[in-house]
Amino acid sequence: MTVRIAQISDLHFGREIPRIAEVLLDDLRAARPTVVAVCGDLTQRAREREFAAAKAFLDELPAPALVVCGNHDLPGWRVWSRFARPWRRWRRHITATDPNAAVSLTADGLAAVGVNTARRWGPHPDWSRGRISARQVAAIEEAFDAAAPGDLRVVVAHHPFLLTTAGRSRGMVGGSALALRRLRHRADLLLGGHVHLGYSGVVAGMVVAQAGTAFSNRLKGEPNGYNLIDADETGLTVTMLRCVEAGFEAYDRSRYVRDNEGWRAA
Ligand SMILES: [Fe+2]
Ligand SMILES: [Fe+2]
Repeated sequence: MTVRIAQISDLHFGREIPRIAEVLLDDLRAARPTVVAVCGDLTQRAREREFAAAKAFLDELPAPALVVCGNHDLPGWRVWSRFARPWRRWRRHITATDPNAAVSLTADGLAAVGVNTARRWGPHPDWSRGRISARQVAAIEEAFDAAAPGDLRVVVAHHPFLLTTAGRSRGMVGGSALALRRLRHRADLLLGGHVHLGYSGVVAGMVVAQAGTAFSNRLKGEPNGYNLIDADETGLTVTMLRCVEAGFEAYDRSRYVRDNEGWRAA
């Protein structure tokens, strides 16, 4: 069974570049993914019009999408809203279901679970940092335990489970140690965004793929980009694409295979 995941992140409507958003949609139509993973930060400041634009974009995606929230989808400095009704606009525009409940998406050969790692506050000065709770990890375990044997098991979140030197200051998702311990041998692939840098690697026997900002002008030292991930019985390949003058082009390809210890770079 061959599965293709398109991973896009950090759309940041309000700071979007419309031309690149159009080019991305054309690319995705041509790529014909099984599913699209949308790794959060749909908006820049959680405004009504930004959510409306994000929803219009999501409606154009050519495959079923699994969409999770990012820290920018919370009311930033509207403190009362942030604490009393943090997801009101998300629920009005994106999906009415409780964003704190795990969302599942299954397709032939694939079981994906999305969790909301954005938090209203944290016990540290940087409230943009996210967290995964024990309850969310349990929901992921439950979904994967019910999945068909042989399915690729994919976790979709906003905050990263792996950082490179360039993104070290952003911090890993809180609770990552517990999550990685419990998901080892249960999950295959952890997808994230937030850092606005594209890279992949292996942690705790699982492949982590991070996508940059798909089409916002909030660049952190590299062009807009997204990932295509192809998996079959023999392994998986993460292809990173970045936007150049004419459109997106592949610039890096990483291959991963699995043995008894878990996943490793091929
Ligand atoms: Fe972002
Ligand atoms: Fe973020």
